[in-house]
Amino acid sequence: MKRILIIGSTGQIGSELSVRLRSIYGADNVICGYYAPPFPEGFFEAGPSVEIDALHIEQIADAVRKYKIDTIYNLAAILSATAEKNPQLGWNVGVGSLLNCLDVARDCNCAIFTPSSIGAFGPNTPKDHTPQDTIQRPNTVYGITKVLGELVSDYYFEHWQVDTRSVRFPGIISNVTLPGGGTTDYAVEIFYKAVKGEIFECPLKAGTFMDMMYMPDALDAAIQLMEADPSQLIHRNSFNVTAMSFDPEMLYASIRRHYPDFQMVYAVDPLKQSIADSWPNQLDDSCARKEWGWNPHFNLERMTDDMIRKLRTKRENGSL
Ligand code: SER
Repeated sequence: MKRILIIGSTGQIGSELSVRLRSIYGADNVICGYYAPPFPEGFFEAGPSVEIDALHIEQIADAVRKYKIDTIYNLAAILSATAEKNPQLGWNVGVGSLLNCLDVARDCNCAIFTPSSIGAFGPNTPKDHTPQDTIQRPNTVYGITKVLGELVSDYYFEHWQVDTRSVRFPGIISNVTLPGGGTTDYAVEIFYKAVKGEIFECPLKAGTFMDMMYMPDALDAAIQLMEADPSQLIHRNSFNVTAMSFDPEMLYASIRRHYPDFQMVYAVDPLKQSIADSWPNQLDDSCARKEWGWNPHFNLERMTDDMIRKLRTKRENGSL
């Protein structure tokens, strides 16, 4: 049985990963580290939680010792567009929290999961069927911190045998907690507009393809990798994973199957467009499939149907 600490448990991924981990390992074995409001509904009643500023290593170490933690999921992040606008914050959180968590993992003998991203690739990376091992010269603050995370995590494994593992997440689509300041956020926001009957202003041009994944698959990816037999892992930091690749037009068409009158107009955000243009169109995730059995369940249509069903229910309940 694991004893898990989640750093960033109130964010887009953390708010759902905590629920899934608790259903597997038991509520009391998953400690939710939080930094700032807003808190998901019922957060403090659902299980143990602890305030942690990941930039203060002693706060992480104290929680790890107090709760006898053996596995850390470090989800603290400043997403790509926000990090470009506030590079100092991007460096501090992207690098600071990473090194603090790795040091605590090494000193307290913990396994550690750190998400990397499609942002770890750059303009001269092959865009289609992007290989697992390829050119990584990102030109964003976010991307540079993600590459650093991959390299440093492999270093901690090789030099100190820290059990570091990571996936390169694509854009994550979810209906519980909104992301903030990411280049892929449009693929979440569009659903809220459709269900509310409002016009969606798309910040990216038609023809901008990026990898995406529905949250249930993203949770599977993280948990499955952390449960994988280490003897089967040729790679560690970090695995390409994807579930679908689409551009705004394809997503719009999929949503219009449910809302034929829904309107999308383009209001291109030059910063987000330039970031998206530097990222791959579609990753090759065959190493993840071979080494630990990655196999996503949601394609564009299934994800769209489920997102709309969930958001409609929220709307009917008056919570949207
Ligand atoms: N969703 C992230 C972003 O857009 C990419 O990993 O910043």
